[in-house]
Amino acid sequence: MTRLLGEYRGLLLSALRDVLAASSTLSLLVRQHVGVEDEQGRPIDAAGKLLRPALVLFAAREFGGEIEPALPAAVALELVHNFSLVHDDIQDRDRTRRGRPTLWVAHGEAEAINAGDLLHAMAAREVARCGAAAASCLAQATVEMIEGQSLDLSYEGRFVAIDEYLAMIDRKTGALLRCSLELGGIVAGASDEALAALRELGIGMGRAFQIRDDVLGIWGDGDVVGKPRGSDVRRRKKAFPAVWAHAHAGQSDRRRLEAVYSGGEAGDNAVVWVVALMERVGAREAADAAVRDHLARGTRSLDRLPLSPAGRDELDELIRYLAGRTR
Ligand code: IPE
Ligand code: IPE
Ligand code: MG
Ligand code: MG
Repeated sequence: MTRLLGEYRGLLLSALRDVLAASSTLSLLVRQHVGVEDEQGRPIDAAGKLLRPALVLFAAREFGGEIEPALPAAVALELVHNFSLVHDDIQDRDRTRRGRPTLWVAHGEAEAINAGDLLHAMAAREVARCGAAAASCLAQATVEMIEGQSLDLSYEGRFVAIDEYLAMIDRKTGALLRCSLELGGIVAGASDEALAALRELGIGMGRAFQIRDDVLGIWGDGDVVGKPRGSDVRRRKKAFPAVWAHAHAGQSDRRRLEAVYSGGEAGDNAVVWVVALMERVGAREAADAAVRDHLARGTRSLDRLPLSPAGRDELDELIRYLAGRTR
């Protein structure tokens, strides 16, 4: 946790609870999934990092001084993020998230689809309170996120080049992160130049965030990340280390890699071999370097932003945290 993430957490948790307060069974499931309520209906804090809504409020404060007007946009973005996760876990067949069973495992796929749809619709209702420009920014980012999810699935059937990989993560993960800083700027009335710089920072953060996520999907502590070690290999995901290893392996390793990735779910021995190959060709170091590089590129745009010294400090701390995050 960093200062920037900690600062808005309490406010965001109670705003999320209020927005999701309906009495329907589905709303109850959604509150539990988002992590703001336990099974007995008691308020708890088991939410995710709340990175995106914290960035909305941070940008709003830096550019307008007030965070209240941006709160519905921040909540809406976290709802879209959770909608994406509920549907993503069905698509990826992942059984745990944030240390809990995924919604589709606990309540069935059909109800998990409803829960995602509800989150999406509630987000549209909330962001409308911040005006047409904010609503359109969030809708566009959601369109791109869904396109990215579709690309991610289509890549399960083939190997891709690094450029194709980047085009996919810029959508599935980058779009919502880029939107977070931009939404705060829009609500606070930031200039077009500032919005462009905020977007640039968001792009760098998005790439770094997903590449780090890909590293955790292979070398992370399964208990913390919620995905068993090597699970992205098992699912034939074209995560950064796989794409890198494919591009840098010798011919025979590359052929064997393609064979492993072209079958159904890879077995234990194949997963061990793939992870060892990734390590042998330096995919892990390359991924760590790419995370640092994309963050450094994003950070360069900070110099064009009129941030307060305290704000700049908080953002620098967050960027350092993102580079090495373990959850
Ligand atoms: C997970 O996002 C999905 C990706 C885009 C990689 P987060 O890591 O921000 O998820 P939570 O909300 O903190 O659990
Ligand atoms: C992240 O997808 C992007 C979205 C959920 C939209 P992943 O499938 O790579 O993320 P995790 O690892 O399940 O959180
Ligand atoms: Mg997933
Ligand atoms: Mg996925």
